[in-house]
Amino acid sequence: MKNIPKVKRAVFPVAGFGTRFLPATKSQPKEMLPIVDKPVIHYLVEEAVASGIEEIIIITGRGKRSIEDYFDTSFELEHNLVQKEKHELLEAVMEIPKLAKFIYARQPVPLGDGHAILQVYEFLKGEPFAVMFGDDLVKSEVPALRQLLDVYEQTGQSVIGLTEVPDSDLSQYGVVGVKEQEKSVVEIGEFVEKPKSKSEAPSNFGVIGKYVVTPDVLESLYEQSKNSVEDEIRLADGFRSALSEGGRLFGKIIDGKRFDTGSKIGFMKATVDYALERSEFSDEFRKYLAEIIKG
Ligand code: G1P
Repeated sequence: MKNIPKVKRAVFPVAGFGTRFLPATKSQPKEMLPIVDKPVIHYLVEEAVASGIEEIIIITGRGKRSIEDYFDTSFELEHNLVQKEKHELLEAVMEIPKLAKFIYARQPVPLGDGHAILQVYEFLKGEPFAVMFGDDLVKSEVPALRQLLDVYEQTGQSVIGLTEVPDSDLSQYGVVGVKEQEKSVVEIGEFVEKPKSKSEAPSNFGVIGKYVVTPDVLESLYEQSKNSVEDEIRLADGFRSALSEGGRLFGKIIDGKRFDTGSKIGFMKATVDYALERSEFSDEFRKYLAEIIKG
């Protein structure tokens, strides 16, 4: 059996403006909005680490400095918590920089997620890596990225996270055509980014922002960037061109409950779901929700 290289790095392209969440995102990154008491990006880093990732590469942009500060040590805060003898909180904040090795690059202009990834092209070249967008949280027994990595480790090919999407929402997603399907694993025959109508969508399997990317896809992104006449370079273009050059591409229908925290309604749903899981206030919160729903 051929030797399939291990995926050790995950790239987080987070330089976008978060327009779906304005005005909250006017002066703070959408990735830093908290679900209960942790920013969305903290959950995503935990997911990556629980999936076996060792290095987190965050591609930031203007106005995103608080992400770097969050995963860094905060001496003043730690000192303050020591003096106040807040041991549990101290432990929680001290754990954050230890979650993984963090590496940062900046995308000077927001020209798409593919363009963001290419900011670290030299660094990633020749190796498979994961990509995680800052919006998609999945509550599941097996971490969502681990589910993709399991498929990658069997096939050695790029793998895309999928979820079933209702007809009315297909135009907001990348949608894949299925060549073959074995339970929740599909071999992808076609990739249509944001189909304009239901008839343009090859299935109801929408792409969620979690990927395992093999070096051929990175190379095709790189080639496109040299000849690009488009405004943006999207990761989806890399997958499409790898497919058109005869490459193989797999999809994993993610097992779990997915939240699009980049939308206001998705964020509210995630907040309720994650809060109800927290033993310290789940009873009180459940009671409160029941009361207001009864009216
Ligand atoms: C991106 C991808 C799209 C995917 C979506 C999932 O689009 O290009 O294929 O379905 O993320 O959230 P965006 O929402 O960034 O426009």
